[in-house]
Amino acid sequence: MNGDGLVRSVKSVGSVRGLRALRSALLRRRADARDLPARGPERARVPGAVTGAEPGPGGGVVRFTRSALEVRVSGGGTVFWGWDGAGPEPSYALDGRAPEPDGRAALEPDKDGGWRVVSERMTVVISRHGAVEVRTPGGGVLRRELPPRWWEPVGGGRARWVQRSEVAADARFFGLGGRAAGPRLRDGSYRLWNTDPGGGFGPDDDPLYITMPVQLVVADAGTHLAFYDNTWDGRVLLREGEEGAGSGHDRPGGSELRMEGGPLRCWMVAGTPARVLAGWTTLTGAPALPPAWALGHQHARWGFGSEREVRRIVAGYTGRGLPLSALHLDIDHYDAHQVFTVDRSAFPDLPRLAEDLARDGVRLVSIVDPAVKAERGNAVYESGLAAGAFVKDAQGREVRGQVWPGECAYPDFTDPRTRAWWGGLYQERLDQGFAGVWHDMNEPVSFAPFGDATLPRSARHDLEGRGGDHREAHNVYGLTMARAGHEGLRELRSEERPFLFSRSGWAGMQRYGGTWSGDVSTGWPGLRASLALVLGLGLCGVPYSGPDVGGFTGSPSPELYLRWFQLGAWLPLFRTHAAKWAGRREPWEFGPAVLEGARAALAERRRLHPYFMTLAQLARLTGAPYARPLWWGAPGDRALRDCEDAFLLGDALLVAPVLERGADRRPVRLPRGRWYDTATGEVHEGPGQVLLPAPLSRIPVLARAGSVIPVQGEDGGLELEVWAPAAGHTGGGLLVRDAGDGWEHAAVERFSTRVVKGEVVVERTGAGADAEVGHPVRVRGVAP
Ligand code: GLC
Repeated sequence: MNGDGLVRSVKSVGSVRGLRALRSALLRRRADARDLPARGPERARVPGAVTGAEPGPGGGVVRFTRSALEVRVSGGGTVFWGWDGAGPEPSYALDGRAPEPDGRAALEPDKDGGWRVVSERMTVVISRHGAVEVRTPGGGVLRRELPPRWWEPVGGGRARWVQRSEVAADARFFGLGGRAAGPRLRDGSYRLWNTDPGGGFGPDDDPLYITMPVQLVVADAGTHLAFYDNTWDGRVLLREGEEGAGSGHDRPGGSELRMEGGPLRCWMVAGTPARVLAGWTTLTGAPALPPAWALGHQHARWGFGSEREVRRIVAGYTGRGLPLSALHLDIDHYDAHQVFTVDRSAFPDLPRLAEDLARDGVRLVSIVDPAVKAERGNAVYESGLAAGAFVKDAQGREVRGQVWPGECAYPDFTDPRTRAWWGGLYQERLDQGFAGVWHDMNEPVSFAPFGDATLPRSARHDLEGRGGDHREAHNVYGLTMARAGHEGLRELRSEERPFLFSRSGWAGMQRYGGTWSGDVSTGWPGLRASLALVLGLGLCGVPYSGPDVGGFTGSPSPELYLRWFQLGAWLPLFRTHAAKWAGRREPWEFGPAVLEGARAALAERRRLHPYFMTLAQLARLTGAPYARPLWWGAPGDRALRDCEDAFLLGDALLVAPVLERGADRRPVRLPRGRWYDTATGEVHEGPGQVLLPAPLSRIPVLARAGSVIPVQGEDGGLELEVWAPAAGHTGGGLLVRDAGDGWEHAAVERFSTRVVKGEVVVERTGAGADAEVGHPVRVRGVAP
């Protein structure tokens, strides 16, 4: 048991909840010992030597003495390969069906008995022993997969496997879902098993709630994303390469992926970062578009405890003229912590409360936990029983776990019938006046003083009718719950875009909503981890997320709180939240200086609302995250690749949050081009590093010369803020307006900027030659 596990048990044993959790963990261990097949003797296998090949659409099948490899290139720089008969489907990650193969790509013989597939954007070379290499059209090697190795039970059954890969010596790894130590993933072992770390986490805690077998790799030769479509438990060992290592030779970077079962198959997307994310979202689905209000400030807390307190908090905002978009109710508003119920003594009339708050423009958002109190008479439990919705063990008995309400049953969201049943339950939330939902505890959690705090690995799941156990279903529990919630809300309130964000998830979860950091520890390391999570998830295709501003645990110092608030104001999900036993998180609780700093951040967030909306729409249309690492537009700039303390917000802004105590200035690394300090108007030329003032009242934010930023003008109307292009340069920007909170088609407006005789000229492009700009323009930055 590690140190943490020990603390967990000491804290919980002795209490009633602790004893129940202990009992449940013992039962889980017993169930697994009884129902999981014992691992007997195993035999190792490699593909062997090539024996032949059969061409097929986009590639074909290459045969080896002990295995076969299917390779299929599709358009847009995407390739799939699968061993031992693994095809692209079924898959929880894919959005519908696999893309069409590229009919122009064909399998042809390569040297030394190998084979290759040549396509417009990449060449795939298969060696005669089963190594797979992906090269750019120019011949640069993006990734080299060594021949895989399987361990097969002698008596038959699931094989474990390992896939080693090499990338360039200069490559950097990102992704793997939400990793607190990122965004750059240094040498180490990363587990693929969605996990509630239990209590607050910091940069050293791994894994967390969202893991994904997705690697985004940036190197001089190009950017690629490799996705091993497999939901089982596994581990990735990453090792960065070294240039000029031992006797002047480069040592390539390496990834070693070990999976406990499931198919060995991989999707790879190559190109620029923007193309890679576009290809990835073509495969796994466009991110759900949040309603416009979900891009404003939201305030939560575990333990508001009563309607009165909620009204007090909202009045605190409105009374001080601070904008607030939504208020979140945690499990304390449930009746005895039971999902889809209300504690009527503390919240006697939620629909009226919702109505009153709506008058101030404030929506109510509800937490939704998956576990259902297993007690006769509980209406949700009874209806779930009737629907046959709960996870069972190999003997057909309901699997129980321990969560907030006590002993619980778990809906099996991998069963389409369960999803339909669960989706219908959101009617109760809508009737209570909630405008959005916040999915929690869906790794799923069952409290345990030792081992994995989740369901037994032997628990049975439907898995879309194929049948299987928790080893395969665990990592998609949150994803399939999100699907149930999203589809339910769409059906129940079809005229509005659902607002849903979920603590756990997997590849493809963006189709249903966003996520948040989970229980990040209050402290400067937690602040840094907050940014790492948002950037890493964005590169895995999940663009809408943000941290608990102020951290989930403890009490931040006024300085830390404000720095967190300033970072949060520039991230897609901007939400203050904290644990029941933690200190206050309202901006006015930290003294006048913090209140004024927070007021400024809130005002800027509101002013930038049209820009955030545009970024949300662009994420849906192109897969590009709102918050991007600095290397996004310049993956060849190595200094940017290593820069982890700043980010780009869309194309136009560079945000440099303060992540250190006591700082009143900070170094900022700039990509190529001219940048304006938006607070002082000072001009800086990139590439390079500058030292910028960062007084407590604000963080450095720079605007790219030539950019067009849609903002809310002082009269509340839409305005274009244009930052003067540098002499001899042009620029531009996009505006996608939200047509409401529904599904109306939103048009993309494009603008270009240039300097003519010392004047900044802004034009509407692509909409007919003489199209008017159509919006007031405000030019900023020095005229060149
Ligand atoms: C979990 C969530 C947290 C929530 C708490 C009570 O710890 O991550 O956000 O406040 O449960 O529901």
